[in-house]
Amino acid sequence: MQNSRKKVYDFPHKAIRYGISKLVQESSKTEYSDSKEVFQLFELGKEVFQMLKIHARDEEAVSLKHLEEKDPQASLKDKEEHKYLEEKIEELESLLDRIKEEVEQANIHSEEFYTKLIRFQTDYFSHMSREEEETQVRLHLYFSDQELDDHQKEIMSSLGGDEFKIWAKYLIPNVPTPIKNRFEEMLKTYS
Ligand SMILES: [Fe+2]
Repeated sequence: MQNSRKKVYDFPHKAIRYGISKLVQESSKTEYSDSKEVFQLFELGKEVFQMLKIHARDEEAVSLKHLEEKDPQASLKDKEEHKYLEEKIEELESLLDRIKEEVEQANIHSEEFYTKLIRFQTDYFSHMSREEEETQVRLHLYFSDQELDDHQKEIMSSLGGDEFKIWAKYLIPNVPTPIKNRFEEMLKTYS
């Protein structure tokens, strides 16, 4: 059921859904014999995976940390899934390295990368849905919207400039114009 409470995962998950989908699309259309295209895919992959790592780090350091203070068991499943997903990210990153470095094998590595990436997309998307359905309910139970806003500020103020720029890059194409404008204003303070 929808309610009017603050949705903690709204912005980060929009950016992540877009980033992973874009990576799936690009890895499907890349010409692997073209080193320029391979390099672009490599850069995109590194950026998207970095965004996922920043997200898991900040969720655990802020939202889940506060949640554990209320209920020590409440964060177990999320952390377990983060660990599993982190292993998959490492595997995908090392495949991406090999695609770039072993040019003559790129076609073989790229097939494996694509197959594993779409499996990862399924896993990561279902992880986000579960957080939105289960963890979000717990956060609403223990915290007011004001407190949830404070958690968000805690995360935002801990971000480095480059980290904020990655979020903005993937979020901005996925939000209505007034929010887009707000993020573009914030971006100016980092440049
Ligand atoms: Fe998560």
